[in-house]
Amino acid sequence: KQAKFTLDPAFRIGAVDPRVRGSFVEHLGRCVYGGIYEPDHPDADSDGFRNDVLDLTRELGVTTVRYPGGNFVSGYQWEDAIGPRSERPRRLDLAWKTLETNEVGVDEFAAWCRKAGVAPMMAVNLGTRGVQEAAALVEYCNHPAGSYWSDLRAKYGAKEPHDIKIWCLGNEMDGPWQIAHKSARDYGILANQTAKAMRLVDPDLELVACGSSHRRMATFGAWEAEVLEHTYNVVDYISLHSYYKPKDGDFASFLASGVEMDAMIDEVVATADFVKAKLRSKKTINLSYDEWNVWYHEPGDESEWAVAPALFQDQYTLADAVVVGSLLNSLIRHADRVTMACFAQLVNVIAPITTVNGGPAYRQSTFHPMRLAFQYGVGDALRVEPTGPEVETPEYGSVPQLDATATLDPETGDLAVFATNRSLTEPLQVDVDVRALKDVRPVEHLSVHGERDAVNTVDDQERIVPRAQDVPVLEDGRVRFELPPMSWSVVRLA
Ligand code: AHR
Repeated sequence: KQAKFTLDPAFRIGAVDPRVRGSFVEHLGRCVYGGIYEPDHPDADSDGFRNDVLDLTRELGVTTVRYPGGNFVSGYQWEDAIGPRSERPRRLDLAWKTLETNEVGVDEFAAWCRKAGVAPMMAVNLGTRGVQEAAALVEYCNHPAGSYWSDLRAKYGAKEPHDIKIWCLGNEMDGPWQIAHKSARDYGILANQTAKAMRLVDPDLELVACGSSHRRMATFGAWEAEVLEHTYNVVDYISLHSYYKPKDGDFASFLASGVEMDAMIDEVVATADFVKAKLRSKKTINLSYDEWNVWYHEPGDESEWAVAPALFQDQYTLADAVVVGSLLNSLIRHADRVTMACFAQLVNVIAPITTVNGGPAYRQSTFHPMRLAFQYGVGDALRVEPTGPEVETPEYGSVPQLDATATLDPETGDLAVFATNRSLTEPLQVDVDVRALKDVRPVEHLSVHGERDAVNTVDDQERIVPRAQDVPVLEDGRVRFELPPMSWSVVRLA
């Protein structure tokens, strides 16, 4: 079977914003404690951060990290986690039924971000708290000096402002599970007022309003429209969240999860632009896909007030890695409107990096498509319109077997084609017309493929790694290569 498409630099979608290479650190399970922070670990630095996790974060190529939640943020009192550690209260975290020690707070997180070379993306509590606490947090983080909160920051050791520019106005406020969840109207009004106050403290913020927690929410669409009607002038982004898993062993649909992500993006774009038209606005709201991943467990697995329990430590399979790759394809092909994204989460909790307390850190299967897409998916996203065979899926009907996207780096002229073969069993020949590209030659084909249920473990960390395939053939202006069944690949041209 064969699929075909044309690569042409004239078919430019938009520049891939580096901030789509984001991740997420929540006070949940072992993401913070035992993940980024473990002061007793032999590889911890003088601030208690695990060097091995910092190294893997840098290797992954993450640019932005969202913090501190997640559902956690909707009950969070950020002031608990500043100042001398010995005086910080231990609190019940109602979101995850965990005991929060507050050893890590915004100052430590900002310090970790500097070490990791990432920009922080901070969320404020719009569940149990509101305008005053959010404005105070911006003052604590960003005001240079001479005010109560900025002087307190200096007193606690951070003389220079943290200068956090990207802020989420709450988290999943549409979800009934959220502490103090709200109607779209109530949230919209609160988000608007909070945004105004935060901008009065620091006018240079970029603000994200909460969209829907997933596309199957009964309020999806209506929520975005109403929230944006209240907040359009004071926010820059609307958020999207999605988690995928194979349902009842339906791997055909699972491999086509990108179809659903594409649809959700298109629908949120349409809704945001509807509000733009209704308000006669010249401003365009972009999308922040600030939680996405494969996630197996259901919320309900929470702990009974333990400190840093091992929650949601999904072990990712080869099939999961292929799906993660195809979700990255969706983000890249929407580069014109999805200009921020965070895979959830970075370490231990539904994460590409797993650590053992006191022991090693290793790469899960999903680490590999992320690293490759982050490294090579730079520059401009190019529109590709494949034709070819289809596969049947119970959930999405007949879908193209090939899921492809491409990028062209205008600085180097390098191209990358990202391709998922959605068939569980059949290889796929791909024929790419590159006649519009001058002097291009294939350099590499790396593929993530193999046994569907294979996983990396601490004892077998390299079971799933990208494998070099035959370098594609260039003949008569066409590049040809074969995709293994159930695979995600990057094909590089220079
Ligand atoms: O990422 C895990 C959780 O998923 C987050 O806390 C929440 O926002 C979402 O439901």
